[in-house]
Amino acid sequence: MSISDIAPAPADEDRAAPAHVAIIMDGNGRWATARGLPRAEGHRRGVEALRRAVRNAGELGIKVLTLYSFSTENWSRPEQEINDLMLLIKRFVREDLAKLHEAGVRVRIIGDREGLDPEILRLITEAEALTRDNDKLTLVVAFNYGGRQEIVGAARAIAAEAAAGRLDPASIDATTIEAHLQTTGLPDPDLVIRTSGEQRLSNFLLWQSAYAEFVVLPIYWPDFDRAALEEAIEEFHRRERRFGGLTARARA
Ligand code: FPP
Repeated sequence: MSISDIAPAPADEDRAAPAHVAIIMDGNGRWATARGLPRAEGHRRGVEALRRAVRNAGELGIKVLTLYSFSTENWSRPEQEINDLMLLIKRFVREDLAKLHEAGVRVRIIGDREGLDPEILRLITEAEALTRDNDKLTLVVAFNYGGRQEIVGAARAIAAEAAAGRLDPASIDATTIEAHLQTTGLPDPDLVIRTSGEQRLSNFLLWQSAYAEFVVLPIYWPDFDRAALEEAIEEFHRRERRFGGLTARARA
């Protein structure tokens, strides 16, 4: 028996990039601290890594890239750090929107919009409206996002429809829930990447990641580059996705 009997090389068609890659961008602060720099510098370099990730995702044929940019829990950070992050997010939309549009990127924002800074709300709305017909790559930015909050929102909307007599509670199934999530219409993530070595989902895409492959990289987000993305995709291809069933080989 040779090694290829145990782990046969996947056929070429199996090497296609996963359709939906979602990333928990972690470690900006530690990247900066390790270099004696302010945390804000880590976030600034984090935005550069984000730009690279979008470009590389498009070049590798990924159709949906979801990035966790600010969680509902991040509001507990010091006010100065929150202000720095908000400035970076505004600057990113102002400086990059035209380029993203030109490159055929559709921008979609998920998360709670209630109580957001009006300028951020305006930029988000503008980005979505300008790019809505693009189809090269969908860039989903999770901003003020929490997976549990998203599911609570879906439950409330479904309950309201049932209470109004428009929906039979007995007919509620996974499709009903999916139709009420903010990601409705998008495929589930195939691959979830987290940088900085932490092995947690941190309230990210809880429903949608049910069968995603989870790859943790031991590097901080500002160091995330093309090679890191390719490494995560290679690891994804080494996994056998079973979706709760048996693999073709185990069934044979
Ligand atoms: C994690 O590092 C990263 C974040 C909290 C947010 C990621 C934000 C950006 C890359 C910049 C702004 C976003 C956009 C959409 C332009 P951390 O601070 O948790 O690092 P640590 O765990 O080392 O402290």
